[in-house]
Amino acid sequence: FSYPLPANEPVLQYAPGSPEKAALKKTLAELKKKPIEVPMYIGGKTVKSGNKISMHPPHEIAHTLGYFHLGDEKHVKQAIDAALKAKQAWADMPWEDRAHIFLKAADLMATKYRTYMNGTTMLGQSKNAYQAEIDSACEIIDFLRFNVHYLSEIYKQQPISSPGVHNRMEWRPLEGFVLAITPFNFTAIAGNLPTSAAMCGNVVVWKPANTQVYAAQMIMRILKEAGLPDGVINLIYVDGPTLGSVCFAHPDFAGVHFTGSTGVFNQMWKTIGENVAKYKSYPRIVGETGGKDFVMVHKSADPDVVVTALARGAFEYQGQKCSAASRAYIPSNIAEEVKEKLVAEIGTMRMGTVEDFSNFINAVIDEKSFDKIAAYIAAAKKDKKAKILVGGKCDKTEGYFIEPTVIEAKDPKYVTMCEEIFGPVLTIYVYDAEKFEETMAILDGTSPYALTGSILAQDRDAVVLATAKLRNAAGNFYINDKPTGAVVGQQPFGGARASGTNDKAGSMINLYRWLSARTIKETY
Ligand code: NAD
Ligand code: ALA
Repeated sequence: FSYPLPANEPVLQYAPGSPEKAALKKTLAELKKKPIEVPMYIGGKTVKSGNKISMHPPHEIAHTLGYFHLGDEKHVKQAIDAALKAKQAWADMPWEDRAHIFLKAADLMATKYRTYMNGTTMLGQSKNAYQAEIDSACEIIDFLRFNVHYLSEIYKQQPISSPGVHNRMEWRPLEGFVLAITPFNFTAIAGNLPTSAAMCGNVVVWKPANTQVYAAQMIMRILKEAGLPDGVINLIYVDGPTLGSVCFAHPDFAGVHFTGSTGVFNQMWKTIGENVAKYKSYPRIVGETGGKDFVMVHKSADPDVVVTALARGAFEYQGQKCSAASRAYIPSNIAEEVKEKLVAEIGTMRMGTVEDFSNFINAVIDEKSFDKIAAYIAAAKKDKKAKILVGGKCDKTEGYFIEPTVIEAKDPKYVTMCEEIFGPVLTIYVYDAEKFEETMAILDGTSPYALTGSILAQDRDAVVLATAKLRNAAGNFYINDKPTGAVVGQQPFGGARASGTNDKAGSMINLYRWLSARTIKETY
């Protein structure tokens, strides 16, 4: 079974008067009218714990989207048992039959359920229509289709044989279950983490962020409709420590596919290390974690290109992309023009609910995030080393709204140049335009992360120099573009240092981690 390289799913634009906009508006109205009760999915059955947690749009906290059932230790154990029960039949299923389930799910997401994938993401995570479309429609569909292609290429890889000897490679799934732990910010990541491991023949326990259950349950329902056998992926909602205490102590724990913050991943790695003697095999630990993504601007850069890269890179989805530009180094020769134009550009950004499609900025995910981001802004307002150039207002009366904010730091190591804030806050530092190389050295030593970054320059020598000097500062490096918006199949995504194990989501590198090869030599 060979599946050709697919094309990327086309992005719908939701222009005024377009049929896709009308269809999405209808679904949003339907979703808002009908609060839903969301069960867990264990062994193909829906499970209700009775501990109901309400879900609200971050931009309209007075509205209730429904409730999900929060599980406990018992549900984690049930999910592991259900996964292990499903394991043999799933691993034995012909690969092409497994692949067809994920391809069918992708087609269902592209057609029948596109407005529901986008609608639940828009309302549950406060993403505008375009940001939802590139995430909960295009990116998740691409992950499913490209991963089927990449896996079919891996399965084809075989060693050479010689006269009297036949060698082959058996691409086995891991022994045990895989744990997928997913973040709030991308529905596509929530879909990719459990399905990429499952596609390889593994069984999965999947725990999404509590703030993303509304869209996660949609993915699970679609996978079931596409024919995913009971128990292959088990969707549970529990708090992190409860999940960890059961899964990481289990002898059949085979690996974790994680995306989230660096601190949580570090803690997880430590617990796994402490338990390592309990496991049948060394577990695979794959994590995509935090970022402090940069834009390095050269004196030859076009100021208008800089402004677009910063405005879009820093503020789309309220800066809550792991890839979001959050620190920029601006050369003195164009600094005044860039600042002036950036402030003007931000002045045109409308903020509000997702139902009004003209809003560019919506709300941040929850009160905890709101308070954390607001605290950075409040501290910057009082600090002599920082100046707020635009924005800075925070209001959580109706939703968790934070204005797109630009801070100018007088010190390149000012706190907001170093720490991940994960909100609509960009810090800029103006450097002496003749000190390009020295400033890149400062950039490289400022934060522990290395996820994404950009160089903006018209001078080719500057591009070449930056590409070499910043070699280890980002796993995804952009030349004359914003550092966000990686597309599956085009820019495999992931970073090193404190940003993760760099196993490139949506690539063969990632899929290899969910396979355990057996070499078979037959002599005749
Ligand atoms: P988070 O770390 O708070 O949560 C991620 C997941 O881990 C959630 O499901 C959460 O419930 C779970 N969790 C929390 N504590 C746990 C514990 N002790 N044991 C087990 N699970 C636990 O992250 P978030 O706020 O959902 O997402 C934002 C973070 O994710 C940012 O740091 C961002 O940079 C990162 N991120 C990285 C990438 C990437 O590709 N590198 C992509 C998206 C998001
Ligand atoms: N695909 C997402 C981005 O690059 C993670 O912004």
